[in-house]
Amino acid sequence: MTGKKVIITGVPGVGKTSVITESIRRLEEEGVPYQSINFGTFMFEVAQKENIVKDRDEMRKLDKNTQKRLQQLASQAIARIDGNIIIDTHASVKTPAGFLAGLPEWVLKELKPDLIILVETDSDQILKRRLSDASRIRDIEGYKDIQDHQDFNRAVSAAYAMFTGCTIRYIKNPDFLLEKAVEEMVQVLR
Ligand code: AP5
Repeated sequence: MTGKKVIITGVPGVGKTSVITESIRRLEEEGVPYQSINFGTFMFEVAQKENIVKDRDEMRKLDKNTQKRLQQLASQAIARIDGNIIIDTHASVKTPAGFLAGLPEWVLKELKPDLIILVETDSDQILKRRLSDASRIRDIEGYKDIQDHQDFNRAVSAAYAMFTGCTIRYIKNPDFLLEKAVEEMVQVLR
């Protein structure tokens, strides 16, 4: 398979999809095409067919082995896609049983990423964004829990770098500075 494989992660509500969407539009204008793939959507399509969830927010509540199976199927399907791709996903998923690695060995072996980006911002800003997003069923947690999740994502990403040899980049997406985050993302992806 040819092309660059970039994995973009961030805790729910950090705004990774907003940064990705605008970055892809800007790169398209420059003649650098990227296709954006949402890992959760690939998992959800299978889960929906199997009638095991009603919405995508229910997937993180499924038992560990079912989530693993869905991860495996999603990564195999995504690995078949050619060209420059951005994979919008999670470094870890907060499940009722604890943090589940979003990019375990069987996913990384399929995806073979060149780069993993962690989109981050202050936890209180993420909490505010979650509370104002009526379109999703977000977990209710305090800013300290959100910070713990962001810290865990940095820790687990170090393991992903060791395993694949890919590089890890942090990009900040603070309130009112989406444009700055996009500029940084475009520079990395160009
Ligand atoms: P997914 O669809 O990726 O869910 P999510 O993390 O909730 O993603 P969103 O796209 O909704 O959040 P976002 O942070 O990108 O926010 P947005 O840009 O909308 O995954 C769904 C499920 O799939 C997961 O829960 C999991 O179960 C499963 N899954 C996925 N990958 C998996 C894996 N590898 N392994 C196992 N399971 C996996 O922005 C949020 C809000 O912030 C918006 O209102 C936006 O306007 C606002 N905003 C953004 N930027 C700014 C800014 N700079 N200033 C002010 N407001 C801003």
